[in-house]
Amino acid sequence: MERADVQGLMLFAYRQHPRSRFFLLRFAGGNPREWLRRVLTDVTSGDEEKHEPYRFNVAFSARGLAALGLDEEDLLTFQREFVQGMSHPERSHVLGDRYSDAPEQWQWGNEAEPVDAVAMLYAQSEEDLHGRSAELEKLLEKFGIAARIEDVALGEGGREHFGFADGLAQPFVKGSGRKRKPGESKLATGELVLGYENAYGKVNEVPSAKRRRGTREHPYFVAGSTSRVQLGHNGTYLVVRKLRQDVAGFWQYCWDAARAEQAPDVAARAKLIAARMVGRWPNGVPLVEAPEAERPPRASLNDFGFRELDPDGLRCPFGSHIRRANPRDMFGETAKEGLRDANLHRLVRRGRAYGPKLAGELPQRDDGVERGLYFVALNADLRRQFEFVQQTWLNSCKFAGLSDERDPIVGKDAADAEERIVPRPFTVQARPLRQRHSHVPKVVHVRGGEYFFLPGMRALNYLCDGSD
Ligand code: HEM
Repeated sequence: MERADVQGLMLFAYRQHPRSRFFLLRFAGGNPREWLRRVLTDVTSGDEEKHEPYRFNVAFSARGLAALGLDEEDLLTFQREFVQGMSHPERSHVLGDRYSDAPEQWQWGNEAEPVDAVAMLYAQSEEDLHGRSAELEKLLEKFGIAARIEDVALGEGGREHFGFADGLAQPFVKGSGRKRKPGESKLATGELVLGYENAYGKVNEVPSAKRRRGTREHPYFVAGSTSRVQLGHNGTYLVVRKLRQDVAGFWQYCWDAARAEQAPDVAARAKLIAARMVGRWPNGVPLVEAPEAERPPRASLNDFGFRELDPDGLRCPFGSHIRRANPRDMFGETAKEGLRDANLHRLVRRGRAYGPKLAGELPQRDDGVERGLYFVALNADLRRQFEFVQQTWLNSCKFAGLSDERDPIVGKDAADAEERIVPRPFTVQARPLRQRHSHVPKVVHVRGGEYFFLPGMRALNYLCDGSD
């Protein structure tokens, strides 16, 4: 992997830079090329060792690329899902964005509030963030670019708002330069970066653009033709979804269910019910390793499979979020085959929390303030990776023998023939009888989203002035 030419977000979660701000940009009437030229030297690359107090990355929607001068012929070399955009009816159908999740209800990313680019600023402290952010805002104003600013942060101890450690399971991508941790599957570079061999042993498709005057000869840029450049080389697709979390609703349900079971220790039972929905304990320990109670984490939280430890879902329910999001070795004739197939659908996740933590003892009362997860994922193939996970695993009612339920955390609403929303069950496999939770509330709601392209460093250069 040419690490100097990929943007840093591909390789780093920036955990040393926990404070962050996402700028959702609208180019109309402004001068985005000039703006990009001005911020270019601030963009963090994959070999960035600088001890700066911040990190900065930038990605564009199809609209944004058009505003930077790509024409229809150029755009058609990108993946169809990206060109359509996340709020396109075909994408909504695949992603299950209907009813309360329909794009018409979103704060941004839909027809009313389209977004051309996302600029992501990460800082070590709140003070650094504000300082750098003020400079960025000034530049945006100077070049006539409107910005919606969203404060996001790594939750305390890396926890999302429901209180669970997040961002733990990541694939190991060949050539990333980092050390592989126990249990991490090794992915071909082309599963994350465009222009490399993917899991099928094929070099993935690289979007291209017309060569502009001034583009010098370059191995990445001349795509076997003298008229087009390989703009997508060392780039990837970036998924951003703003997901509101109903924290009070989630825990209230778990406590009510624990009370209904007349559990002797309601708090402990509520925590178990929540952990079963996630597939891990709040501290990240997987249920396949600790099915009854939370215990201190081992050195590795990722070195496990489902097939041997838990073939019948008796430790970690089949329908739990992590089992659906990545079934690991569960399917297939052999563990090896299952793992190979599951690894065709991996995501590099870089999500961060927005909104204040809900204070108080569990189960807390809602304070009416919006909070949630800015879900951010990178992948080379939107259809085979992000959309597949969302549609075929998380939101499919047929999964691992289950037939009428979806992911308990992010599963969508379903309606009957009369378009009435039907209750959401969640099954816990058990002997002699399985247990069924009914009327699980919908606790995650889509508030916005878009597909972006995260170009390589040279491609960024091309986008602002056309030369390498
Ligand atoms: C507000 C919404 C969400 C919450 C609260 C949430 C929470 C979590 C938590 C606590 C974990 C376990 C820790 C970890 O391995 O990082 C996890 C894992 C994961 N989630 Fe989510 N998640 C959300 C949305 C999504 C969405 C929309 C997707 C994909 C479409 C997704 C895909 C994954 C994947 C792939 C894993 C790793 C599974 C593994 O490899 O073991 N999540 N999530």
